[in-house]
Amino acid sequence: MQEGKTMKTGKIVSFSAQGNEVQVQYERLAVTVRAVTPDILNVFVPCKDAVRNSKAVEGDRSVPVSVTAEQNGEKLLIGTKALTLCLGTDLYLAAKDGKGQELFHTYEGERTPLPRLSERSMKILAAEGHDVAKFSDLEYPVQLVMAMDEGDNFYGLGDKSGFLNKKYYEYENWNTDNPQAHTEDFHALYKSVPFLICAKRKGVYGLFFDNTYRSSFNLGKESADYFFYAAADGNLDLYITGGACMPDVVKGYTYLTGRTPLPQLWTLGYQQSRWGYESADDMREIAAAMRKNDIPCDAIHFDIDYMQQFKVFTWDEENYGKPGELIAELARDGFKTVTIIDPGTKEEEGYFMHDEGVEKGFFATDTDGKVYTNVVWPGKSNYPDFGRSEVRRWWGDHHRFLTDIGVAGVWNDMNEPASFEGELPADVVFHDEERTTDHAEMHNVYGHCMSRATFEGLRAHTDERPFIITRACYAGTQKYATVWTGDNQSLWAHLQMMIPQLCNLGMSGFAFAGTDIGGFGADTTPELLTRWIEAACFAPLFRNHAAKGSKPQEPWRFDEQTLSIYRDYVKLRYRFLPYLYDLFWQGESTGLPVMRPLVLHYEDDANVHNLNDEFLVGTSLLVAPVVEQGKRCRAVYLPEGTWYDLWTGEAREGRQYILKDAPLDVCPMFVKAGSLIPTFEPVSYVGEKPYRRLELLAAPGEASCVHFQDNGKDYGYREGRYNLYRFTRTADGRLETVMEHENYPRYDEISVVEIGNGAYAEKE
Ligand code: GLC
Repeated sequence: MQEGKTMKTGKIVSFSAQGNEVQVQYERLAVTVRAVTPDILNVFVPCKDAVRNSKAVEGDRSVPVSVTAEQNGEKLLIGTKALTLCLGTDLYLAAKDGKGQELFHTYEGERTPLPRLSERSMKILAAEGHDVAKFSDLEYPVQLVMAMDEGDNFYGLGDKSGFLNKKYYEYENWNTDNPQAHTEDFHALYKSVPFLICAKRKGVYGLFFDNTYRSSFNLGKESADYFFYAAADGNLDLYITGGACMPDVVKGYTYLTGRTPLPQLWTLGYQQSRWGYESADDMREIAAAMRKNDIPCDAIHFDIDYMQQFKVFTWDEENYGKPGELIAELARDGFKTVTIIDPGTKEEEGYFMHDEGVEKGFFATDTDGKVYTNVVWPGKSNYPDFGRSEVRRWWGDHHRFLTDIGVAGVWNDMNEPASFEGELPADVVFHDEERTTDHAEMHNVYGHCMSRATFEGLRAHTDERPFIITRACYAGTQKYATVWTGDNQSLWAHLQMMIPQLCNLGMSGFAFAGTDIGGFGADTTPELLTRWIEAACFAPLFRNHAAKGSKPQEPWRFDEQTLSIYRDYVKLRYRFLPYLYDLFWQGESTGLPVMRPLVLHYEDDANVHNLNDEFLVGTSLLVAPVVEQGKRCRAVYLPEGTWYDLWTGEAREGRQYILKDAPLDVCPMFVKAGSLIPTFEPVSYVGEKPYRRLELLAAPGEASCVHFQDNGKDYGYREGRYNLYRFTRTADGRLETVMEHENYPRYDEISVVEIGNGAYAEKE
């Protein structure tokens, strides 16, 4: 293997085609090319072994596809009607779309690695406290180096820090809990989603590298001539997703790895949390203050303090009363309870989780078979081996303790897995079902497997759609859990980062994602909190959370103005709940996210390729929050079309920047001409009273939308218990309603409100 080069496989010797698959025999190994759909091709190179045990792709996703294979000199052309792949010597790879436009080809020149530090220089830098640790992906055995065009832009990759467009940066896929302020030079955060979208001047495609080992993407940082993927171990299991436009690429990727399921309606409401509510009285006080201050709120989160000595599946009765009583009390006032569960299980004889786990052999071990110990919140702790279904079942079954006392959602944390006494050694023994393997392979899917255990547990114990939030994940975890972006801080830079981070998570399949509103670490200010609630008003997961020791950041801790603006935006969120819920419902069959970067729908418009401070909600609403301290006016880029200011009703033509006044209480928002947006009257919490009235917010022009209505809770809709309305607004302003499906009580009243009127009147 030559260092840093696409792999030396030798020449193609022969090939054979059968069904969707073509086997290509190279001099040194056999490569399989398989069409999953006409738009998705899989290239499997068994660099390590022939075992394919994907955590991201469950079951066989392939449909019958007609595949052609044709030799052309030393090259082999394998194609469907939408994608053609060309394979050549030493794993030369090139792809064209259905129109014959080239999407990519492997780079054939010499690599120009960045200068390496000498031992001496490292010492000098380290002496001043510089971080000199650098991953050395040059030596990684799995390498794919692609030629980069000037016009290429990159998106996706899950939760990586920094900006929307990943061009010229490098990233590492290794789930990492790093409490330092996440800045754009961070290589790794909590999630590993090795899915990259490459938008070219003409054409777009996705590359999904299904490999759970430590891996990296270098997107033009090393050289503007190429970008590359490298993995420390495992196989090259590459899916190429094509399509006519960027949404097609996202649809293809989520077809493969699964889509965010429709959540319960209340989970889209406001949620309040703090690591620092330390007793039942604290919880009562928060709940009462929410209602007294008229801040709609659906859930309160219980952080680690509710447990006895941070022991999972226990309850600290001394401080939180009898399990169930407080939860029932909160529920009477409309609050759902979400409790945290970490994987680290306290190593304490006599504690049932410890004893059961040891007796059944359910914890990861050292190579000598001794249960592996590290330290997390409970002190010495052990790590359940979630790759095994029996361990997942055991863990999932213990959730009955929580569901029996009325817990409505579970928050999975520290599942990178976190460890306070150094990283788990690579050789700690884990399993992938029956197969014995190690931490190096299972690290990046630890959070994924834990979320799955939690999902399956909740699914078995309740009739409702499970609500799980996880910090760590891998590609495909969106099937099991909602995500949040971990420990951000009360920094303007982190408010700014929220937009690209949630947009890229959305394009990586995670439609249900959020950041800690107000910032977790550090101290927020009234202005930062205000701008944060405005910007996050349409973030799919809508939770304010803060760390112990930081300035309390519930909205009433500040002045009247902060409280009042905060209330207005939470209420605005509750107005738009049916629109958000519709987007989730559509997303279950399209994989498209709720919160979208403009580039997703306007990829030909160069003004949006690097646009970090605006986003779309679906296709009808554009949000351009103020994310800079002291700013009271901002430039807003409006893409093609006519856009109506939500607050004034004023029409603005797109394909230009406009200036919009944005005093502290204004978050600029625009509705696209020809939109109909379903809204509800705000309530204090979902379920306070039945939603009997639907109001459609209309922007001028002929418009049509599909609206979904069900009980917002269970899986009845999968058996047909729902209504589907098709609303059409004619050019002369009449509303026509067609029931495309009817099996649920209809609204008593449906009305239309023209933009610029009533509830959205201009703010002072
Ligand atoms: C981690 C989580 C944070 C939580 C804390 C205590 O830092 O990211 O959200 O509050 O642990 O459980």
